[in-house]
Amino acid sequence: MRILAIESSCDETSAAVVCDGRHILSNIVSSQVDIHALYGGVVPELAARQHLEAGPLVVEQALQQAGVCLSDIEAVAVTQGPGLVGALLVGLSLAKGIAWGAGLPLVGVHHIEGHILAPLLERDLAFPFLALAVSGGHTHLYRVEGFGQYHLLGQTLDDAAGEAFDKVAKMCGLAYPGGALIDRLAAQGDGCRFALPRPMLQHEGFDFSFSGIKTAVLTLLKKQPELALPPHLANLAASFQEAVVEVLSKKTFAAARQQRLERIVIAGGVACNSGLRQRCLALAQQQGVEVVFPSPALCGDNAAMLAVAAEARLQGGAAGYRSFDARPVWPL
Ligand code: KG4
Ligand code: ZN
Repeated sequence: MRILAIESSCDETSAAVVCDGRHILSNIVSSQVDIHALYGGVVPELAARQHLEAGPLVVEQALQQAGVCLSDIEAVAVTQGPGLVGALLVGLSLAKGIAWGAGLPLVGVHHIEGHILAPLLERDLAFPFLALAVSGGHTHLYRVEGFGQYHLLGQTLDDAAGEAFDKVAKMCGLAYPGGALIDRLAAQGDGCRFALPRPMLQHEGFDFSFSGIKTAVLTLLKKQPELALPPHLANLAASFQEAVVEVLSKKTFAAARQQRLERIVIAGGVACNSGLRQRCLALAQQQGVEVVFPSPALCGDNAAMLAVAAEARLQGGAAGYRSFDARPVWPL
């Protein structure tokens, strides 16, 4: 089945054409980060307006790059939530318009379901597996039993890990979104230089908390503003990243052990982080489990990832109706 997918939950407008929920024919991502960087974070109203402008163009580009016409498309998939309501509404309206106009079924997909299933665009992956969805809006651990079967094991009680990366970057005077910048700086620094807390590591269960690490960095910066400057900045970035990576990796592998799962998927924007990748790959080797990271282009927000769930749902007999609303807050 050829699916046209549209993603607009935050600050990336994306459209993709995916065949059989596996083969990416195109996956166009138009980023708004340059616009939001001027304000140090995503401005919801601006995001919605940008989606409105970019949406139709991105869809056209996706069809063109895939070498197909709308008449070759058999279904439309769209992010139904969670996300910024205005941003979601723009993508949803575009998808509904296309689906109604072309007489196609429309499938609303949960954004996190998209992230978790993204590895299937690159490889086979047997169920069940553990999934860590770690992005600017989420830090959630799930047991994934099959398509549509997600059992929440733990989640952040405050900031998402990506949000903490972005806030710490901002405190250090780095541009938005700062996750990748911290990652790059951390590679040149000493992660043991500053002792930062590892929240929730001693607690039972699989919930996370990142605001304490962020506040500890803020406290250090208030006492020693020079830490935001070279040569100290790399050590601060490395110490912060080390704290986040230690908490994420230890909790995730502990959850896999408790659930007796031998495969772990780590997905979402923060799954691009080189420290997290290295640590988890090393732990996987030590503990004899498999850890799967989507390639970086499929870790960040993109539309192709939505087609995996949409294909599974339609093949499973779902009708694909067109009258649903956006769900800005939506537990998976
Ligand atoms: O999945 P995503 O593109 O959007 C959301 O659904 O939130 O994730 C974006 C988040 C941002 O917070 C960004 O700073 C973070 O992922 N991120 C990173 C890295 N690349 C992106 N965080 C740490 N290290 C990176 N290399
Ligand atoms: Zn995302």
